[in-house]
Amino acid sequence: MKHLVAPSMLSADFANLQGDIEMVNHSEADWFHLDVMDGMFVPNISFGLPVVKAIDRHARKPLDVHLMINDPDRYLEDFYHAGADLLTVHLEACQHLHRSIQKIHSLGIKAGVSLNPHTPANTLEAIIHEVDLVLVMSVNPGFGGQQFIPQSIQKIHKISQMIRQTNSSALIEVDGGVTTENASELLEAGANVLVAGSFVFKSADPPATIQNLKQLRKTAG
Ligand code: DX5
Ligand code: ZN
Repeated sequence: MKHLVAPSMLSADFANLQGDIEMVNHSEADWFHLDVMDGMFVPNISFGLPVVKAIDRHARKPLDVHLMINDPDRYLEDFYHAGADLLTVHLEACQHLHRSIQKIHSLGIKAGVSLNPHTPANTLEAIIHEVDLVLVMSVNPGFGGQQFIPQSIQKIHKISQMIRQTNSSALIEVDGGVTTENASELLEAGANVLVAGSFVFKSADPPATIQNLKQLRKTAG
């Protein structure tokens, strides 16, 4: 399958959110990536339900909601009602991950699980067949504009093997420090969805940057 591109609205202009949403609507992007942070699971607070709802009113592409919050079960239903089409929780933030995934599926939407950089790929063994997406954090979550952690490539490779071996249909999404410099290698390792925040929104021509990410191919070999 052709890979997907999901611009992270964390780097958008919050004072002109509607303008940036329209830019993404008219671009070659596939999803809106929305980073929800609680100031507990990660050392930053971004935005929550009212902003997701407001984005949903204008967005004409699926909302890929990345929950960087402790004990996300408390809010899954609320984010579903706010417009999430895909809800991703962190493995490190869930006491009963299997239950969280089941809960998301019971709402009739797709469920993802995310791993922090320090969490090994093999922690997914007992859950991989239950999820629609694995989000590999390639920076420590909490902030946009950080530097890509190179070990993430090996982790994507391992997860990709695990997906093939278990006949899972999960997509692999990579998030943090993604640019046109490293994206081909990420696709080659097995990534299917590229999240990019600052690389898109801090560029001179965001729609062209999205197009460049979309048109990338895997590196040979
Ligand atoms: C980080 C977030 C990312 C972030 C990526 O905690 O999960 O989605 O916005 O930003 P860049 O692409 O700038 O690293
Ligand atoms: Zn994210």
